[in-house]
Amino acid sequence: MTEAGHSVVSVDDFSTGMSDRIQHESYELELENPDAEKELARILKNHHIETVVHFAARKQVGESVQKPELYFKSNVGGLLNLLNAMKTVGVKKLVFSSSAAVYGMPDVEQVTEQSSTNPINPYGQTKLVGEWMIDNAKVWGLSAISLRYFNVAGTGWPDLADKQALNLIPIAISKIRDGEPISVFGDDYQTEDGSCIRDYIHVMDLARAHIDAIPQLKNPGNEVFNVGTGEGSSVFEVLTELKKVSGIDFELNVTNRRAGDPPKLIASSEKIQKALGWKAEFGLEEIAQTAWSSRGF
Ligand SMILES: NC(=O)c1ccc[n+]([C@@H]2O[C@H](COP(=O)([O-])OP(=O)(O)OC[C@H]3O[C@@H](n4cnc5c(N)ncnc54)[C@H](O)[C@@H]3O)[C@@H](O)[C@H]2O)c1
Repeated sequence: MTEAGHSVVSVDDFSTGMSDRIQHESYELELENPDAEKELARILKNHHIETVVHFAARKQVGESVQKPELYFKSNVGGLLNLLNAMKTVGVKKLVFSSSAAVYGMPDVEQVTEQSSTNPINPYGQTKLVGEWMIDNAKVWGLSAISLRYFNVAGTGWPDLADKQALNLIPIAISKIRDGEPISVFGDDYQTEDGSCIRDYIHVMDLARAHIDAIPQLKNPGNEVFNVGTGEGSSVFEVLTELKKVSGIDFELNVTNRRAGDPPKLIASSEKIQKALGWKAEFGLEEIAQTAWSSRGF
């Protein structure tokens, strides 16, 4: 954002974020906190904020199943405070981090924005409710874009590498570090090599989608866009790429399927290409390469 010429102010509770990575002004605030609405309104007004890019959310699917109330409180309660604050001070532009999790288990080759939404866990539900809340805010003039991210991976700058091992690539890298085999959950899906297929999107391409979205915030309403490459990679393909970039022939441990894993989740990226002129530039090779080279061990 800063490189694209925007002045930025961040608000974060630093529950997973790291304050030492932020080089601009920032505020520590839990968005669902009862005082957050007033505090947010104050920050928006004092800094003459024109556009909010709302990333802050809890995002662990498994944890959301165990603690659904926490997810609704943080993700939905936090968004409610934010929208109220924006309404109060008249900030009418928003880019929202939504997720492919809103689709659930779609039975289609490529998911379009018209595909039905049927989230299968509380995390995905909070994102869909978020989109609905944002859409309803058109009554007071909110112009919003909800970006439904597919599988975000790779690293933009080594010092900003993902420290949490929650997704396939960071988990695999931490297992390689510890010399442990890497689990593949199921090799009996109806896919070419039997493992699950996902659409991996490089974090730098994702960042650019937000920058490209901002100038399009003109009319009240909520426009949703998939952010994916339109290409799928299987778990085995991702791990083969990691073997290539690391030069390490690590062991795989094929286990049973995990409940709730759709066999295939690939974005149609036609809508975002047409409307925002956005297209992913990086593929699996760059994703694996940048994730590996910034691994920090
Ligand atoms: N990483 C992915 O693959 C992916 C996919 C789809 C959607 N998303 C969405 O993208 C957004 C960013 O995800 P990320 O991968 O960077 O996760 P992250 O955990 O690295 O970032 C989330 C940030 O929000 C902050 N935060 C969390 N809850 C908060 C709260 N209640 N109040 C204030 N701050 C809070 C955290 O401290 C952290 O800095 C999230 O909304 C997530 O749901 C991520």
